[in-house]
Amino acid sequence: MSGTQYSDTITDMAPEPVGARRVVVLISGSGSNLQALIDAQSHDRLGGEIVAVISNEPDAYGLKRAHEAGIEAVVLPHREYDSRDAYDGALIKVIERHEPDLIVLAGFMRILTPRFVQRFLGRMLNIHPSLLPSYQGLNTHARALADKVASHGCSVHFVTEELDGGPVVLQAELAVSIDDTQDTLKDKVHAREHLIYPIAVQWFLEGRLQYSAEGAKMDGHLLPAHGMRLSHEDAAEELDENVDD
Ligand code: GRF
Repeated sequence: MSGTQYSDTITDMAPEPVGARRVVVLISGSGSNLQALIDAQSHDRLGGEIVAVISNEPDAYGLKRAHEAGIEAVVLPHREYDSRDAYDGALIKVIERHEPDLIVLAGFMRILTPRFVQRFLGRMLNIHPSLLPSYQGLNTHARALADKVASHGCSVHFVTEELDGGPVVLQAELAVSIDDTQDTLKDKVHAREHLIYPIAVQWFLEGRLQYSAEGAKMDGHLLPAHGMRLSHEDAAEELDENVDD
């Protein structure tokens, strides 16, 4: 046995434990989706750890939610930068300091530069209040109501350079009733967002979900263009909603 150094203890030989997957969340406002992610994490249902929350708005209520959960909350006000490119450059630096596996946009109200998107391509998710590809952009509930659609909802998608145009991962559907208003739609869609966003994040952090140029892949299989979909009935049951509403 001479000449070779052997370990004294079994722990010396054990492989390094793989650290928790790291998530950075970007917000601009209320942060109710952030709260859903925090709640999932506290129930061990996120598959990783939110290591920082970054807001471009100093007064975002989501910052308070982060503080209360003991998560580092960073304010990076876009108004202090001369250009979109300068801001996104600074944001890249702050994000990378936290060495995230995944960047989660949760109501981050900024148009992203191509440089920013390319830096995190394949590891950045967004949630959007419509059944994409319908109603990309703003005022989704008003537009859905004006079109008298029967079905509305929300989508989690990978972020690409096309605004709200990246591969869809998961959607939750909502049957629009004749009595729905912008406010009722907003509330029902929000409830569905809080249901599906933590699930999609967990899929990603567990390595089940991948980005590819052709679309999102789940367990190695290409998903349909609308991703996985939670029906109105299943979502309503999960949320204890009255399906006759
Ligand atoms: C959500 O409706 C989400 O779909 C959109 O921005 C809103 C954020 O809400 N991207 P909150 O700040 O998570 O409450």
